[in-house]
Amino acid sequence: MTKSQFQILSNSRDPCTVSSYDEFAVRHAQLHFDISFDTKSILGSVTYLLQRVSLSSKTLVFDTSHLNINSVIINGSNVPFAIGEQSEPYGAPLDINLEDVTTGTTEPFEITISFSTTDKCTAIQFIKGDTGPFLFSQCQAIHARSLFPCFDTPSVKCPYEFLVSSPYPCTMSGMPLQPSDGRQSVYKFTQPVPICSYLVSITSGNLESSPIGPRSKVYSERPILESATWEFEHDMENFIQVAEDLIFSYEWGNYNTLVLPSSFPYGGMEIPVFTQLTPTLICKDRSQVKVLAHELAHLWSGNLVTNKSWEHFWLNEGWTVYLERRIIGALHEKLCREAGDSNPKLAGKQRRDFDYILGWSSLQDTVNKIDLKFTSLVLNLKGVDPDDSMSRIPYEKGSYFLYYLENQLGGTEVFDEFIKHYFTVFKYQSLDTQAFIEALYEFFGPQGKAELLDEVDWNTWLNGEGLPPQLVTFDTTMADSCTDMAKKWVDFNNNDDSATNINESDVDVGSFDASQNILFLETLIEEFGKISVSEKTLSTLQKFYTSYLKTCNSEIKLRWTTLFLIHGSYSPKDQLVMEFSDWLGSIGRMKYVLPGYKLLSKYVDHEFALSTFQNNQSFYHPICRQLILKNFKAN
Ligand code: BES
Ligand code: ZN
Repeated sequence: MTKSQFQILSNSRDPCTVSSYDEFAVRHAQLHFDISFDTKSILGSVTYLLQRVSLSSKTLVFDTSHLNINSVIINGSNVPFAIGEQSEPYGAPLDINLEDVTTGTTEPFEITISFSTTDKCTAIQFIKGDTGPFLFSQCQAIHARSLFPCFDTPSVKCPYEFLVSSPYPCTMSGMPLQPSDGRQSVYKFTQPVPICSYLVSITSGNLESSPIGPRSKVYSERPILESATWEFEHDMENFIQVAEDLIFSYEWGNYNTLVLPSSFPYGGMEIPVFTQLTPTLICKDRSQVKVLAHELAHLWSGNLVTNKSWEHFWLNEGWTVYLERRIIGALHEKLCREAGDSNPKLAGKQRRDFDYILGWSSLQDTVNKIDLKFTSLVLNLKGVDPDDSMSRIPYEKGSYFLYYLENQLGGTEVFDEFIKHYFTVFKYQSLDTQAFIEALYEFFGPQGKAELLDEVDWNTWLNGEGLPPQLVTFDTTMADSCTDMAKKWVDFNNNDDSATNINESDVDVGSFDASQNILFLETLIEEFGKISVSEKTLSTLQKFYTSYLKTCNSEIKLRWTTLFLIHGSYSPKDQLVMEFSDWLGSIGRMKYVLPGYKLLSKYVDHEFALSTFQNNQSFYHPICRQLILKNFKAN
């Protein structure tokens, strides 16, 4: 199908903002926060340098949500303003009458808005950290509007200056203008690279830092600083250098990581230049560092080149997973070459394909679980809270689509040229899926490859629901041992004769790395879903894999518990359930907490799940709390 023969089913304007973002250009922003740990609120002001794009614009509308607006000043004079009604999920418009301001010109004008956050702010959480009061924020996708008035759309970017006063060390989304780990009263940061509102961030607490590479530090509270350093220092600079080879030089100055308290709702968040990370990554064996590779890749895919609206979120996350797997594959290749492996290139591809196999498994799982309308790559989010559309789809279907395009166009070497081109052409901009396809045609057309692109079934890939066409064959070398082991357990379960008995030497857990253990468990969950699993199988499994119960790797912990809760019969008083519910109350990463409560509710006891949540709810970040509640209501 040629590109002119299909239509992308998305809105031309970002439907998730009520602002008049398309009528103004933002040249610069200065954001000032004053943090009060006593009132658990932030008093702030934001100054924008704006220009009319359309001469006729008479009102300027910003996004806000549960914000108090104290004053609006344009070019030095107070002007009247009005806040419209708050309506979910997009908040309340802040309307500013511009009739008397530079009417009929495109002269830049300066507008300063003073505001304060309320206890309904969905972007921030004030909590008790390990060593004192702690505040952090999370604005993606549309929570920035509850922190400061803004054009809350990824279509808009501008450079920022940040200023924050707090009794504790702070980080914001830019390079610190003084060392930011000593205690001061005002902290300043600069972000000369234009960024979107969703990347604005504030953290304050007893932060300390330690180097993890020549241009990188890790920040956290003291008790986990040493283990966080160990977890990341081995890979940090290698990741950056591999990414730079693959795309182009890192443009943001330093790359630091910031390990937040355990209620942080995500695995990681690509804040420049302080990537936020969940402490669940610190598992003492570096087995979750690929999250770091992922967040680093975002500094190109997402932060430099950005989706125009959350309907094209796959451009952020699909590209990032694609790059993450290229980085991990390339590093594996390098290590194998240094170790004298006879075919390091193949080893790198096997590593990359292994992650894609794991990804395919989670894609299948997602397609079976979520509302089909959220399984297409391009979404229609009119009236929808983007948090509700969040799933593994943009990540897995998106990265799989890019792998398919890479193959279709001639393999990595050919596609690598496009990677560099794409990120160079679109940096500092936001684009939609249509622009991405046009870029492919513009790049590959003159090379005589337009026909290869015409073979792509764009409509099915981009608008189609469910699983995508299965058009990439993965190298299964690293996965085979995991799936074979799972089959062994299925045979053990299905045959009662002693010939199919399993003993310790058959199990050989030690040879699997963490990600192979994950695939083994994932396959077991899938296969056991098709059969009736005996008590004998479960108790034998438990005997050989006692180490899983003590693992610090939460990916393994969740899958192991899933397997047992689904197939065993448990009550709230059983140790497995008690430990699992304690764990759910100690971590806020939604990837674990959301399925965790679903498991408790479905396989243990709904009332117990609900009361466990009620006991823990003050611990969770507002975004996480809201989504758990929505899930409970849906059941
Ligand atoms: N930017 C996302 C996190 C995010 C997505 C926050 C949507 C809010 C709305 C981040 O880069 C991410 O993808 N994190 C993943 C980790 C990753 C390795 C897939 C996560 O948190 O699980
Ligand atoms: Zn991501």
